[in-house]
Amino acid sequence: MTDKQAGEWIALNGVSFVRSRRLILDGIDWNVSPKDNWVVLGANGSGKTTLLQLLAGYLWPTRGAITILGERFGQTDLRELRRSIGWVGSFLQAQIPPAERPLDLIVSGKFASIGIFETPGEEDYAQARELALRLRCGAILESPYGVLSQGEKQRLLIARALIPRPRLLILDEPCSGLDLVAREQLLKTLEELASMPDAPVMILVTHHLEEITPSFSHVFLLKEGHCLAQGTKRDMLRTELLSETFGIHIEAVEEGNRFWARIVNDR
Ligand SMILES: Nc1ncnc2c1ncn2[C@@H]1O[C@H](COP(=O)(O)OP(=O)(O)O)[C@@H](O)[C@H]1O
Ligand SMILES: [Mg+2]
Repeated sequence: MTDKQAGEWIALNGVSFVRSRRLILDGIDWNVSPKDNWVVLGANGSGKTTLLQLLAGYLWPTRGAITILGERFGQTDLRELRRSIGWVGSFLQAQIPPAERPLDLIVSGKFASIGIFETPGEEDYAQARELALRLRCGAILESPYGVLSQGEKQRLLIARALIPRPRLLILDEPCSGLDLVAREQLLKTLEELASMPDAPVMILVTHHLEEITPSFSHVFLLKEGHCLAQGTKRDMLRTELLSETFGIHIEAVEEGNRFWARIVNDR
């Protein structure tokens, strides 16, 4: 696959999604260029995961058109497309057997797409080991998955998502359930990843401003299935927009290249 039109790398045009007769997403327009990493910010239930599932080809839009990695949905082999999109989300964790060995887990990412059954070879394991080191998992490779900390599990799952060399990496609330130290370690690892020459484009889903690290340049604000606003990080992380997104008076304080949420008490 080639990125035929740079301006149409990822494009959602008038995308709506109805589920159980409820309008979950309404008239979404969104363009992602291969140069930018995005954050999708919105309250619980605003439709973030659904939006990303549409974008990754796991759901079909009720209305509208989606172009992903230069290919129009409906005109391309979705299974092939999904191999180019890595996904890290909490729903995966529950499906992993506690006895699974880290390297087997990482390698399994290469053969995850439906209908592809191949036996992994030596070179797959070598690649898995290299990715594990990159993601600072070198010390845990002998431990079964079940005994690892939440942060270690999440870093392994990122390695697993990276093994097919995706061009897009979707991170759906990757820091949920992590304590402060583990969260900072994971964010640091993502920053290192983003600075590598073969880094995939990243889309991070979160409802925490603190998780927006310098590599993320653009923000998409989602509220109750609508796009409230989208654009550069500095334009989006403003009091008015954030307060509307979350329905609470909130200010973003910028410090050390990061943003911190301050809840303002209205009297
Ligand atoms: N499998 C499902 N069946 C019915 N409704 C769902 C399902 N998954 C999500 N929803 C509903 O769709 C809305 C958006 O959900 P979701 O995309 O998961 O939001 P977010 O990721 O922002 O928390 C929510 O109101 C949720 O209850
Ligand atoms: Mg979600």
